[in-house]
Amino acid sequence: MQNFKKLLSQRLLDAINIGFANPTITENDLIDMLEYPPDTTMGDIALPCFKLSRTLRRSPVQIAQIIAENLNDEAIKKAEPVNGYLNISISDSYLERVLNTDILTKGDSYGASDLGKGKTVVLDYSSPNVAKPFHIGHLGTTVIGHSLKKLHQFVGYDCVGINYLGDWGTQFGKMIVAYKKWGNRDEINAGGIDKLVELYVKFHHAAEEDPALNDEARAEFRKLELNDEENIALWKWFIEISVAEYKKTYGQLGIEFDSYKGESFYTDKMPAQVQKLRDMNLLKIDDGASIVDLEEYNMPPCLILKRDGSTLYPTRDIAAAVYRKQTYNFDKAIYVTSAGQSLHFAQWFKVVELMGYDWYDKLVHVPYGTVSINGAKLATRTGNVILLKDLFAQAIEKVAEIMEEKNPDLENKDKVAEAVGVGAIVFYYLSSNRIRDINFVLEDALSFDGNTGPYVQYTYARTCSLLEKAGDFKEDLDIIFTADEERELIKTLARFPEKVIEAIEAYEPSIITRYILDVAAAFNRFYHNCQILSANDEAVLNTRIKLTKATNFVLGNAFELICLKKTKKI
Ligand code: ARG
Repeated sequence: MQNFKKLLSQRLLDAINIGFANPTITENDLIDMLEYPPDTTMGDIALPCFKLSRTLRRSPVQIAQIIAENLNDEAIKKAEPVNGYLNISISDSYLERVLNTDILTKGDSYGASDLGKGKTVVLDYSSPNVAKPFHIGHLGTTVIGHSLKKLHQFVGYDCVGINYLGDWGTQFGKMIVAYKKWGNRDEINAGGIDKLVELYVKFHHAAEEDPALNDEARAEFRKLELNDEENIALWKWFIEISVAEYKKTYGQLGIEFDSYKGESFYTDKMPAQVQKLRDMNLLKIDDGASIVDLEEYNMPPCLILKRDGSTLYPTRDIAAAVYRKQTYNFDKAIYVTSAGQSLHFAQWFKVVELMGYDWYDKLVHVPYGTVSINGAKLATRTGNVILLKDLFAQAIEKVAEIMEEKNPDLENKDKVAEAVGVGAIVFYYLSSNRIRDINFVLEDALSFDGNTGPYVQYTYARTCSLLEKAGDFKEDLDIIFTADEERELIKTLARFPEKVIEAIEAYEPSIITRYILDVAAAFNRFYHNCQILSANDEAVLNTRIKLTKATNFVLGNAFELICLKKTKKI
């Protein structure tokens, strides 16, 4: 509809120029004013004329009337003034053009654009803390982050996905102590990250009884900082084991990162930034620690160095941002984390600004709400957490059971169950606004009937099997719309490109998720009310195959944007 809005605003401007003397209105003003009415029986798009009243010096009712009289285009079926609104309906010939020229010709790239051409976006997401559990709290950063990457790529940006691993810090001292006391190399090699987490949890329980263990951990971490050979080797090994495990989960989601430069990479890049802060007189000593005072900006101070001179989370983030600016010269750097870290980001973004870096306003924090499962919250230290891989495994198992009943002869059952099970979790998660807290109810997420991942994947598979049966459509046969369901479907499909833009502007993948539901609903109404394969007129049949193909493209393209696999058969 983006194109329709553009075309319409040109015609509206023409009509205004005929009906009014010296109007000071631009096409873009008009594009911004156009609205989609909630009830489409009134029209497909509306111009609320009260917004023009002041400039055109007439009442909204008169304005709507005058524009209606002068508005004319093949793309417009009807323009009706109603109570100060101008309600416009789209003509079949325009819908035809959308179907043929926009969607079917562009296919896989329908919805894409070159809006971001020549610009780079760096996205920092997932970024788990090594040796700590990769739990469902990480689902948000992982799938929102990746979806934002896909969305930006789709509109032409060069994207760099960075997994800023939490691979440095006192937890490694703890891990080293725990390993030296209770660990077993073969067991860890065989058991992977779970064994590491077990050690981590064991350490915390033991340290509650015997706080001296914490001193030992600090000493081991100190040795690590001083490049002690044994500790460095252990540290590298812990990371290797953890990353191998994360990659399995990323693989299930179809996610790959361009960089795994974690916190440790910035160790030698911090001193220069600390020095700069000092030189600029931005550092204050407070109780031995070095801080940047942010009182003027209504924030608590940003901690840069502890009393003992060691660096902190914000220090590393500042150094990493400078490095990324130098390395990638980004136009935007996006950080996806839980809303619990919002203050941290606001603080160090401000510090970057105070340091005189003129790119401070290219830093974007994208926060999201908390996740619980069946009402239960998470706790890391006690080991009482739900791991992301376990949640996926559970979903896959349940889907496999459902499919065994529904379609026992399906080929590649395991692969399909994985795509649908993981997809169900992702879709459920991305269905609500990111900032809302989410309570997972697995049954709801996995249902084939609700507004779920399985339902939309099933709809996609339905388009595939229809197309397989129908064979190719004919290019040059006339298009004939004979049912409102057909028109509603194509109008829904026409909105995809602007949904992509909306999702990017709001950093909100749920806009795509909800749009997918609109498409699935419109397609299923069409499917149930129009005979597709048994239509008895050749042109009607061909039109319906084209509509099915167009739906297949749009669903497929939209799935890609939210980490949902395109499954041809379910
Ligand atoms: N490792 C951090 C955590 O799990 C997230 C890192 C987010 N990115 C950043 N640049 N601070 O809480």
